[in-house]
Amino acid sequence: MAEIYLDHAATAPLRPEARDAMVKALDEIGGNPSGSHAVARMAKNALEESRERAAELLGADRPDEIVFTGGGTESDNLAIVGSVRASAGRAVVTSTIEHKAVLEAAKHLHAMGSAWSTVGCDRDGVVMPTTCADVVGGNEATVSVMAANNETGALQPVAEIAGSVRGSQPGVVVHTDAVQAFVGGEVTVASTRADLITLSAHKFGGPKGVGLLYVRSGTPLEPLVHGGGQEAGRRSGTANVPGIVGMVEAMAATVSDRDRFRDDVGGERDRFEAVLADRLPKAAITAREVPRMPHFSHVRFPEIRAETLLIRLDRIGVRAAAGSACQSGAIEPSHVLTAMGMAPAAAAECVRFSFGWASRVGDGEAAAHIVADMVDSI
Ligand SMILES: Cc1ncc(COP(=O)(O)O)c(C=O)c1O
Repeated sequence: MAEIYLDHAATAPLRPEARDAMVKALDEIGGNPSGSHAVARMAKNALEESRERAAELLGADRPDEIVFTGGGTESDNLAIVGSVRASAGRAVVTSTIEHKAVLEAAKHLHAMGSAWSTVGCDRDGVVMPTTCADVVGGNEATVSVMAANNETGALQPVAEIAGSVRGSQPGVVVHTDAVQAFVGGEVTVASTRADLITLSAHKFGGPKGVGLLYVRSGTPLEPLVHGGGQEAGRRSGTANVPGIVGMVEAMAATVSDRDRFRDDVGGERDRFEAVLADRLPKAAITAREVPRMPHFSHVRFPEIRAETLLIRLDRIGVRAAAGSACQSGAIEPSHVLTAMGMAPAAAAECVRFSFGWASRVGDGEAAAHIVADMVDSI
């Protein structure tokens, strides 16, 4: 049976445009962008052209607002730890449904003495703007709320949150982790109103281990990685030029593919859910009533352990994921689902199916029948 890959949210296959650009860069761009001779200048040009394109695609005012990093986790850490450390006494505020890259960075700062407050979400997994403003109060803070949740796909009202927290504290710095959101809909400086935006290449068809942080001009930011002062002193180390070239090519392909993505990939997701609803009336789709990403389907199958279902699906070529993390041998219930008020036993019955640019016509319907047959047989 042909494989059906429904784990684009974990990582998306490399887009051919990104691969071609990377192969060309690997073959033709040999120098170190920090050097001064002709070969180095080629690398520097490729790097700066990529920065200009990335800035344009994100609607940034200036190319130097883009800092290239080693991925989403690093960008989140740079945003949160870097902005909090840059101003003494700054607090950190995160939602409870953030990725571990944000939560662990905040936890680390808290262990070093910074104040850390969290804001919850409603039963559909959406963070409320007014709650954020209440938590910030009069404190100078870095507020981090993701643009779309990586388990449920629920979109978060980041622009509204930015507006309301700035109303209560003008010195606030707003960060959004848009690692999952970029592929599913518009993510720009204007659409998010954030001061700091995290992207990770491998979630939208670029290579793994490459990301960027948009840093609005004037936002205080202390580097995490010290050394030769690359990236205008904000992230030292020789740039991964082929990786960056590939990421920006994938960004451009993602942006020009957005309408098709919403209609065709979203259509596969919708057919998947329609067949599931028909065949398995007890299956419950998470965040169905709120705006969510077009390619996500997070489903609870009552009385079916997600682990059992995933293992059996994997055996016949359907790749999906559960939000539960396996830590030190014990399955921990997803912090996102428990923050939404789901009992741990119910959270252990949830599976995330994520379609993506590489999904084929018919994948949605075919996968739904396979899943329904499997659930019926357990
Ligand atoms: C929302 C979110 N933030 C951050 C990350 C981490 O990104 P990376 O894998 O590039 O370190 C992920 C990856 O799963 C994610 O989903």
